[in-house]
Amino acid sequence: MGELATEKHVQYILSVEKKKDDFQSVVMEHLRMNGAYWGLTALDILGKLDTVDADEVVSWVMSCQHESGGFSGNVGHDPHILYTLSAVQVLALFDKLDVLDVDKVTNYVVGLQNEDGSFSGDIWGEVDSRFSYIAILCLSLLHQLDKINVEKAVNFVVSCKNMDGGFGCTPGGESHSGQIFCCVGALALTGSLHHVDKDLLGWWLCERQVKSGGLNGRPEKLPDVCYSWWVLSSLIMIDRVHWISKEKLIKFILDCQDTENGGISDRPDDAVDVYHTYFGIAGLSLLEYPSLKPIDPAYALPVDVVNRIRLGKRHAI
Ligand code: FPP
Ligand code: ZN
Repeated sequence: MGELATEKHVQYILSVEKKKDDFQSVVMEHLRMNGAYWGLTALDILGKLDTVDADEVVSWVMSCQHESGGFSGNVGHDPHILYTLSAVQVLALFDKLDVLDVDKVTNYVVGLQNEDGSFSGDIWGEVDSRFSYIAILCLSLLHQLDKINVEKAVNFVVSCKNMDGGFGCTPGGESHSGQIFCCVGALALTGSLHHVDKDLLGWWLCERQVKSGGLNGRPEKLPDVCYSWWVLSSLIMIDRVHWISKEKLIKFILDCQDTENGGISDRPDDAVDVYHTYFGIAGLSLLEYPSLKPIDPAYALPVDVVNRIRLGKRHAI
């Protein structure tokens, strides 16, 4: 089995950050805040965050904040809760949460909670259990979880649970590993994991491992490196990670590397991108691959970053 091409991946991530006017960057421009979170968290797990100019990143992040308190994907775009979480996570990586007007960001997130406890992604109102997780994580990072109605938020997430033990986007929506990650993460962050049938969900999740060792997102779908994160983190949060073969999954992720130019793709021999590079590296971190920083499955941030934030709260009290 090959090894993780750490140095190549670092070069690949740094080069994507610089190539701002190539085709992929133009298409993805509105997603830049998410891309920054993926690329920078990957660099941190690889132990290379110090190759980036923190002040430059922080000032770009802050230039994406709106009057409403929310952040957009790039300068001049509309704010959305997705980008607001990425912005907070990027600041957390650099230990720069103190540049934020916490009340302003909190008010934006609080304002997106609906009467039934669910969250909209922005002022246009689309509801999705992803946004419940994002709101809960964002406020946890800011120590402001008590500003929303947590009980109602949890009830909404639980209402997205299906007979197969999984979770969907909205009540009655088909179970999907990405959505399961969000719902289990929301329940983990609020101390509500007792709502999960761990054996039933664990069984559904471990069935996502296919012959090649990779994981898929739903029955009958092809394996994809990003599900190494969505499925594995969920299995860890419900304490059932020993139900899959870690060795086979490590091999699958390593087989998806471009060992010449760096980067990781969704499946072997496909084109690489920063999204799959991040989730491949994050998956390997969850699998305790040597020399990688451990990542927290619920916060989706390195464990040392999460500990720093938790410690910060203890000092504040
Ligand atoms: C599938 O993606 C993944 C999801 C639906 C979950 C997305 C979760 C978030 C955006 C929350 C924030 C996440 C983190 C890690 C902080 P997809 O639609 O690309 O799936 P597909 O490739 O199977 O269509
Ligand atoms: Zn994918």
